[in-house]
Amino acid sequence: METRILGTSEEDIERAAEIIRQGGLVAFPTETVYGLGADALNPEAVGKVYAAKGRPSDNPMIVHISSKDDLTRLTFEITEDMKKLADVFWPGPLTMVVPARPVVPKVTTGGLDTVAVRMPSDLTAASLITASGVPIAAPSANLSGKPSPTTARHVIDDLDGRIDAIIEGGDCQVGIESTVVDMTGSVPAVLRPGIITQEQLSSALGKTVELDPVLLTKPEIKRGEGLLETDGDFKPKSPGMKYKHYAPKAEMIIYKGDREKAALAMAEEKLRRVECGQKVEIIIYDDEEPEKAAREFFAKLRACDKAGVDVILAAALKEDGVGFAVMNRMFKSAGYNIVEV
Ligand code: TXA
Ligand code: MG
Repeated sequence: METRILGTSEEDIERAAEIIRQGGLVAFPTETVYGLGADALNPEAVGKVYAAKGRPSDNPMIVHISSKDDLTRLTFEITEDMKKLADVFWPGPLTMVVPARPVVPKVTTGGLDTVAVRMPSDLTAASLITASGVPIAAPSANLSGKPSPTTARHVIDDLDGRIDAIIEGGDCQVGIESTVVDMTGSVPAVLRPGIITQEQLSSALGKTVELDPVLLTKPEIKRGEGLLETDGDFKPKSPGMKYKHYAPKAEMIIYKGDREKAALAMAEEKLRRVECGQKVEIIIYDDEEPEKAAREFFAKLRACDKAGVDVILAAALKEDGVGFAVMNRMFKSAGYNIVEV
């Protein structure tokens, strides 16, 4: 299939919307990462998304809307909590998991009776959804297992020839995927951390929002199988959290603990590796600027792949606020290969 490269003009958005209405696939920018969109209510179209990405079929999609009213098409009752979070954070990088109406196909929800919904703030994304006239199911527009795409170039590298069109819309400002919060329990719970933090959610609701306990465990990678496992139970509520993710081609090691000791240990390891003829990249972000780390991290991994880096040595950030979300991605990229210093 030939993949059309589109811009963000009104005509091009209309072309892209027509492809979505016809059951095709269009990659588009959002403020977080690029998404691979299909008509969320068309099971055949959504099926093509799994195929194009090589994504396991029990990993559900996020459904993107362009108006808060669209939420009522997808779920039954809008609770006070849902309303508050939508008022404060939509449009923006927050996804709410809510009970799904029967109109949402099982292939979109990965067989669950809940659906993840997000209203992106990116203007191109919003115009595409509005022009399509349907909610758009969109996972990140990467091949399954690879780092999420934050530029149109990343999408082309992964999906050229596999999808109908790509809208080129510049670089993503957030750089990591949306915060996913489960609204179906008695207490809202963060299933995937993002730039909108647990603290911000709690303060918007005036009560404590929990963390899915799985976010505090560090599973062992069963090498080669793409699945994460712990010795005990590892049953994340968000199916996507059990798959190996964001992996660069290079081996990756994270140095956790005192910053100065980490820098020293990384420098020593680099020396050893270089002596063995390996190409080494060091990643150190400022603890005070976790947003910058979020914006640059996935692009950095992809750049390392392109440059043929053999091993990436990365310093851990402080695991609070946005730093917690960045470290969630970094641990996965490294397959939980961590050196405590
Ligand atoms: O920022 C984002 O969220 C991006 C852009 C494109 O909007 N999308 C994205 O989608 O990251 P994806 O498919 O890569 O990640 C969706 C995550 C997965 O971990 C999935 O398991 C979870 O959301 N999810 C989706 N539906 C769910 C549901 N009904 N219950 C629990 N988790 C769900
Ligand atoms: Mg993804």
